[in-house]
Amino acid sequence: MTTLFYNIKELIQVEETSKKMVSGKEMKILPTLKNAFLVIENNKIKDFGVMEHCPKSGFNTSVDLLNKMILPTWCDSHTHIVYAGNREQEFVDRINGKTYEEIANNGGGILNSAKKLQQISEEELYNQSAKRVEEVMSLGTGAIEIKSGYGLTKEAELKMLRVIKKLNENYSATIKATFLGAHAIPSTYKNNKNVYLDLVINEILPEVSSNNLAEFIDVFCETGYFSVADTKRLLKAAKKYNLKPKIHVNQFTAIGGVQAGVEFKALSVDHLEEMRQEDIESLKNTNTMPVALPSCSYFLSIPYTPARKIIDAGLPLALATDYNPGSTPSGNMNFIISTACIKMKMTPEEAINAATINGAYAMGLENELGSICIGKKANFIITKEIPSYGFIPYSFGNNQIETIYIEGVKV
Ligand code: NIG
Ligand code: FE
Repeated sequence: MTTLFYNIKELIQVEETSKKMVSGKEMKILPTLKNAFLVIENNKIKDFGVMEHCPKSGFNTSVDLLNKMILPTWCDSHTHIVYAGNREQEFVDRINGKTYEEIANNGGGILNSAKKLQQISEEELYNQSAKRVEEVMSLGTGAIEIKSGYGLTKEAELKMLRVIKKLNENYSATIKATFLGAHAIPSTYKNNKNVYLDLVINEILPEVSSNNLAEFIDVFCETGYFSVADTKRLLKAAKKYNLKPKIHVNQFTAIGGVQAGVEFKALSVDHLEEMRQEDIESLKNTNTMPVALPSCSYFLSIPYTPARKIIDAGLPLALATDYNPGSTPSGNMNFIISTACIKMKMTPEEAINAATINGAYAMGLENELGSICIGKKANFIITKEIPSYGFIPYSFGNNQIETIYIEGVKV
């Protein structure tokens, strides 16, 4: 099946050959083709170009874009969308003056989600999570990373990871799994953190690996959660199983998590709301992608990741949602792009690069997704009639998406 899309007002994020990522000043450039065509065959991009070179034959169907735009689907490289129930009450508690930290210290937070998840069946967990996958696909997300970490027992962590695997099998969006057993210290191990880490390393990790349930390893490296020493211990163990690190660092405090990530060749270091100059320096000349999660900053009223400092230092930056019940109960990448422009002073070009090609890199998908490139998956968004791509961040909260194609099929 070959389909031609023609009269495209602007084809956004086009690449002749697939780049790994974009960094520094390069992020200000968003390669586009005006008045273009796109050909997809089965689930892949077959060809694209300007209308003067539009093929006259060689396709089964054709779609007149009537001057709308096409851009690659969003690549959301950091989420926790497999969870049970919600934490709306904690949201209200915070409105009434409690802090995120106070709530967590009183058995709320991650432990609250873990309790709910431990009690619910695998089927019910799948059903609740599948709704969210469908929701984010309808908002233009074509690839998504999902973490475990609300199980915190061997049984419940494996249950979460099996649900992630099943979601990947049943949905056309590309889904990558991350094992986040070290997300919080369960109350039974409150004064025995090392015993819990032993369990994660010696009991859960080998099972995750032997059942091929995750490609990445994550840890919440944060004051009151897991220290830099704990992080290194876990990453060292995970290396034996070939799990690549993508880690939570510098959300509330900068304690050296970035450096630990770099030391263990992390694919990404995520959050980065608290960044010291030395943290920025340590990311230079590495293959580690810094990832910002602006809707977490928005929802918790914490600082935004200093995107300008990071990009102006010549580094790349990716944007992701962090969709989870506690700190970001929303998975809308369009809102992320707006927020990055409005609150982090990223240009629309930088934000779109961060949410496409750099997001793909942060999941190891840069050869398959993140741009309009021959041979890549036919994952793209058709916009409504808008004057320019900058309208997506500009018209924050509005939906500028008309149609989504994932693996060549209309969602
Ligand atoms: O990325 N920071 C750690 N984990 C999640 C939120 C966890 C929760 O509150 O449920 C995050 O923000
Ligand atoms: Fe997170």
